[in-house]
Formats: sequence, structure tokens, C-alpha cells
Amino acid sequence: MRTFSVTAKGSAEKCRIVCRARALSQLKEAVGGRSAIVFTDENVLRLYGRAIRRALPDVPVYAMRAGENFKNPQTLFDLLQKMAEAGLKRNSVLVALGGGVVGDIGGLAASLYMRGIACIQMPTTLLAQVDSSVGGKTAVDFCGVKNLVGAFHQPELVLVDPAFLRTLPPREIRCGLGEIVKHGAFDGEIFDRLAAQEDLFDLKFLAGIVPENIAYKLSVVRRDPHETGLRKCLNLGHTTGHALELAGANLSHGECVLVGVLYEARMARTHLDCDGEYLGRLEALCRRALSCDPASFDVAAGANAALLDKKNTAAGRVVMTVPVRRGEYAMLELPFAEYERELARVRRELC
Ligand code: NAD
Ligand code: GLY
Repeated sequence: MRTFSVTAKGSAEKCRIVCRARALSQLKEAVGGRSAIVFTDENVLRLYGRAIRRALPDVPVYAMRAGENFKNPQTLFDLLQKMAEAGLKRNSVLVALGGGVVGDIGGLAASLYMRGIACIQMPTTLLAQVDSSVGGKTAVDFCGVKNLVGAFHQPELVLVDPAFLRTLPPREIRCGLGEIVKHGAFDGEIFDRLAAQEDLFDLKFLAGIVPENIAYKLSVVRRDPHETGLRKCLNLGHTTGHALELAGANLSHGECVLVGVLYEARMARTHLDCDGEYLGRLEALCRRALSCDPASFDVAAGANAALLDKKNTAAGRVVMTVPVRRGEYAMLELPFAEYERELARVRRELC
């Protein structure tokens, strides 16, 4: 078992993160005597419904339809309605049991209901365990933009259990690897462990590396909880990654992040003073984790979608967080036409 405790800088919100086996059996104690709701999705309910009901027999469960397509205001308000119907009060708690989609919507609903109630995150995907359940970012997609409407709301507790990874399809493991490789770009120890590991999909290896990733992410969140500076590094690969997601590349979030890191590392090499050998190793890691074709998207649609990125500060320009050398990142801003040219160039190189 490993436990982390965080109070983000400038905030009174405290969050405890516990990595342990049989975490579901801890839920009852964590909820205590409070009224509660469990929010999940239909896939997770199918797999773990019985275990949830055993852990919290009297608590209502609401399951959304699974997937990013349902990460929208409609699902958020459906959940808020269930919370009201369940008679939740200010001292109630929402348990978000699922992947990053469930965690992001559940966290946002908890932040809005009666101006904020407690939230327990129980991440069931690799991506959610290493990234989305940690750090308090919550959101839904809106008007065609990823995570356009959201809030920072730290969960009071994150319960991380490696047993959930056993039922994950390989594609979902790959998604988590996207965020792990992203962390590895900045944390030398994570990078070295990934580079030395032959089978990146080995569950024992992954269970071992989850706490390290949480520790790395917390080291960033503690110093910059609201992404005014340092936390921007965690957006590595996400400008191009989110753009491909919106442009209908038919890849999941984590796969898009891996492709995004690949493209943005190549762009960094052309535009910035970089350690080329190191970026080459990072690209090789992305390619080992990916099984899809990193060039199967429409360049014009991808470039246009990148214009909607929240990191952009001026019209017609695209801002990216890019790796430059081990442990270091930089912001790269390109005019739209140049970004589109770069996307096309890297795509040609990768074909
Ligand atoms: P997801 O929540 O859609 O889960 C992926 C799929 O796995 C779903 O079909 C789900 O039903 C299924 N699933 C979940 N747990 C399972 C299990 N144990 N066994 C079998 N199947 C299971 O997607 P995700 O990849 O977990 O999360 C992606 C989302 O996270 C995106 O919306 C992204 O924007 C968000 N995100 C947020 C942050 C943050 O800081 N808040 C960080 C990274 C990503
Ligand atoms: N996943 C990026 C962040 O939490 O800042």
C-alpha cells in the first residue's frame, strides 16, 4: 500500500491518495455515515455492479453511457438531477467509479452541486489511475471543444486499486501508456523504467509504475494546482492530440496523446534548440506503445481543430507544450499556416 497526501499550494483543499488492493472494501468506511451517490458508466457497472452494491448496499448508483461522446452537458445535468432526486445534501459525497470520462464529469458535478460537495475518485482505467483522478481537473466537452466547461475541484480521496486493470482491453492500457510516456518525458526515472521494459503492457510492471506516476503528477500539482505555469508541462502532446480527437481520427484520448507527443517532438526538433538524441528515444517509446498508424487523419481538419485549443492565446496561432531535453519542456507557438505545414511534413515522414 502507498499513501500520498496533498494540500495544493494556496488552497485549503486536502486530498489523500491511497494505492492498495481490495480498495472497494474501503469505500464504506470512506463514505462514513454520509448520504452518497455512485456515478459510473454502463461498462464498469456490468463488470463491477455486484461488487459496488456489496460495498455500498444502500447507495443509489447512476451509470452513464460509456465513452467520450457522452462527456457532455446533457450527461452532467442528468447526473445532477439524480443527485437532487437522491436528496443529497451539502455534506453528501459523490463516488466517481470509472475511467477519466466518469471522473471528469463526476468531479464537475460534485463541484457544482450546492456549490460543492465532497468527491471520492475510484479510477478504473490505467489513464485515470496515473493521471485524470489526480490533481482536481474536472470538465465536460462543449461546442466541439474538449473540456471547455470545467472547474478545479480536488477529490477528498482517490482510491487506486491495480485489480481494475485486469479487465481492461489492451487498447485502454495503451491509452494509459500515453499519459505515462508523457510523464516519462519529464521524469527521468519513469523514462528509464519504460525504456528498459520489454513488454509495456505487462500488468505487473504497470501496477508497479502507477504510484510513481502519481507521485510525479503530484509533485507538479502541489506547486501549481491551477496551471498558471509549471503544470502546463502536463499538456505535452495534447494540442495535437486533442486536435486529432476532434478531427475524428478514430483514436482514443491516450492514443491521440501518444501521436501528439510524436508529432510535437518532431516539430520541436525543427524549431527549438533540442537534444535530438533524447527526443529520438522519446519518439521510439511512443512508437512502441502505439499500434495504430500515426498518420491516419486529415491534416486540414487536424490543424483547424488545433486552433480551438485552450492553450492558444492569440487568434490564428497554435500553442504547444513540447519536450526539448530530459526533464525540460518549452512552449512552441506557430502561426496557423506553419502549424498546418508542420503537421503535413511530420505526417509524410511517418508514413
Ligand atoms: P473512459 O473513461 O472513456 O474509459 C475507457 C473505456 O474503458 C470505457 O469504455 C469504460 O467503460 C471502460 N472501462 C473503464 N474501466 C474499466 C475496467 N476496469 N475494465 C474494463 N473496461 C473499463 O476513458 P479514459 O481513457 O479512462 O479517460 C479519458 C478521459 O480522461 C478523456 O475525456 C480525457 O479528457 C480525460 N482526462 C482528464 C484528465 C484530468 O486531469 N482531469 C487527464 C487526462 C485525461
Ligand atoms: N492532465 C493534465 C493535467 O492534469 O494538468
